Amino acid sequence: MSQAALTRIEKAIGTLTQEVAGLRERVDALAGSQGPLTTAEIIEFLDRFRAGEAMGEAGIGAWIATCQTDCLRGGLRTAQMREGAHALLLEQRIKELGGSPSQEMDESAQTQMMDLYGSTKLSDAEKVDKICSSFDPDTILQQLSDQADRMDNDQETQFLLRSIIDDERSTLGFLKQAHDLLCA
Ligand SMILES: [Fe+2]
Repeated sequence: MSQAALTRIEKAIGTLTQEVAGLRERVDALAGSQGPLTTAEIIEFLDRFRAGEAMGEAGIGAWIATCQTDCLRGGLRTAQMREGAHALLLEQRIKELGGSPSQEMDESAQTQMMDLYGSTKLSDAEKVDKICSSFDPDTILQQLSDQADRMDNDQETQFLLRSIIDDERSTLGFLKQAHDLLCA
């Protein structure tokens, strides 16, 4: 093989090595986004979740106030209390970790929720139907579990979250039951 050809091959190998290194960095960065959460990331996640729970508590409150179905109202009151307890627990944990709760759900999401949950024009069946078709329970629970799985470095928060996920499973199950009952 000529010297020129050898040089060309060496150069090509050099380029290839650089490309592989670059690729590996990108893969590592991607894997990092699935790795353990830092305390700052945990606080941010908890705060976002807390804001959603507080909004849920308010929304379910508006539904209870306009609810015309006795059995539904009973379940809603329990779900509302769970949402409120979650918001409080998350707030406490954020503070224990050195953060301060600050996030709010954006206004349009809040308005949308209150309009739907607190509507006096929609029936309870219509509300249940709209709510149940707006999300997939399994996806929500899986997304939350995925976050909990990344909290191995903070087992207190991890199991606080896992207990909350069990509660969410109850609430979502109740909504499904209500859907089966009212929308059959
Ligand atoms: Fe919730």
